[in-house]
Amino acid sequence: MEPIGRRQALQLGALGVAGVVIGGVGFFQTRGLAPPAAGGAALVEPPMLRSREGILRVELEAAERQVTVAGQRATVLSFNGQVPGPTLVALPGDRLKVTMVNRLGSPTNLHVHGLHVSPQANSDNPFVSIDPGEKFDYEFAIPLGHPPGMYWYHPHPHGLVADQVFGGLYGAIIIDGGPDLPTTRERVLVISDLTLDDAGRVTPVPTGAAMMGREGELVLVNGQLNPELSAQPGERERWRVVNACTSRYLRLALPGQQVQLLGMDSDVQAHPTEVDEVLLAPGNRADLLVTAREGTSALRTLDYDRGSVDMGMMGGRSSASGPVTIATLTVAGSAVAPLPLVPDRPSQADLRAQEPSRRRELTLRAGMGGMGAGMGMRFTIDGKEFDHERVDQEVHAGALEEWTIRNLAPMDHPFHLHVWPMQVVKQDGVTLAEPMWRDVVNVPAGGQTVVRIAFDDFTGRTVYHCHILDHEDAGMMGVVEVT
Ligand code: C2O
Ligand code: CU
Ligand code: CU
Repeated sequence: MEPIGRRQALQLGALGVAGVVIGGVGFFQTRGLAPPAAGGAALVEPPMLRSREGILRVELEAAERQVTVAGQRATVLSFNGQVPGPTLVALPGDRLKVTMVNRLGSPTNLHVHGLHVSPQANSDNPFVSIDPGEKFDYEFAIPLGHPPGMYWYHPHPHGLVADQVFGGLYGAIIIDGGPDLPTTRERVLVISDLTLDDAGRVTPVPTGAAMMGREGELVLVNGQLNPELSAQPGERERWRVVNACTSRYLRLALPGQQVQLLGMDSDVQAHPTEVDEVLLAPGNRADLLVTAREGTSALRTLDYDRGSVDMGMMGGRSSASGPVTIATLTVAGSAVAPLPLVPDRPSQADLRAQEPSRRRELTLRAGMGGMGAGMGMRFTIDGKEFDHERVDQEVHAGALEEWTIRNLAPMDHPFHLHVWPMQVVKQDGVTLAEPMWRDVVNVPAGGQTVVRIAFDDFTGRTVYHCHILDHEDAGMMGVVEVT
């Protein structure tokens, strides 16, 4: 476990640098404001690019650049010189035309995480590889009736995903078009983590950390360290939060404020439920309503123990991350008039009324390779590492299937399927009463999760994998082909 004292020391170190820079440009004279609290800077959101007349055309250039992150100049990977990349906003029925330009030193590609779009050709095809110096024209046709919500994009070249995402390549996608909710404002919060060395470069991951899944020492919101949010009492904000961390689970809490969950991933709950905390595995998104109450509240990620790596005779390596303050909300000023109630939304599809046409079991394992495989750790699904030429699951188009995902490892693995959302029916041995839709489901250490999937609308080959991206790179991924 990373000593908390050290992490805090590192954060304070970075804040010290930010303070010097602000002082140096005459912050007090030019703004005439009181000095900011620790962390200080107001939250900045990534620029939004919206579709027009059914089309959103974007060029995304992936390159190493000097960017301000965590309040300092750093050399990181970026889309269009920004961390996070721009937020892409579209409507069901729209087309996203994205030209991906690779100015990295290694191959890359683009994945639109959670979108229900074709996995073929130049759509959400994880088998595309764009060489350094090349570009590729993607086109994602978003079906009418696509669930509104927040999705995200990131590269997906097998073996390099963790380095590229950790390095700074991620951005949000919003599919608009849900019923309007009475809110004062909306915010996009892209949470990621990162470790920088003294020269402001991304620290390479030590092997042991990659086995567990690397966690950065700095936890960032929109590339900022502990940014400042402000509101007036009674204001209602909609927060769209993505966990873009490579491996870190976020157990978010905002004590002192009223927080309601509208849904996660493509899930749209009929009515908001009040929550004390929300657990986001890597890749998950949360759609939250925050009703502001006077005072100052820290948005924190609490302790989460995601288990340990079984190192056999070498002993174990465990990870418990948090708690860390990642943003500060200050609620002050005069109270606003109460907002209208949030209307109920239509209830969601429920796949439990029909009998599945097929049941499958997938088994996740992580452990020492055994004599034949040498001393390395192996990360497998059904005993096999990823092979892009092998089809692991053949599915009939239109089938309704039930998948039981078993985790035989002593650590959690967040299971993700591309293209088709999963309805979680059983988690931690508990059968769920209400429909719950996810594209990443946590499968706890030694536990299992049961999901149903309707393989509708598209055919083709795509992947499912652990969303601890170091594990995906190590082989914990398989291929599903729908024909
Ligand atoms: Cu966000 Cu295949 O992953
Ligand atoms: Cu994905
Ligand atoms: Cu994993």
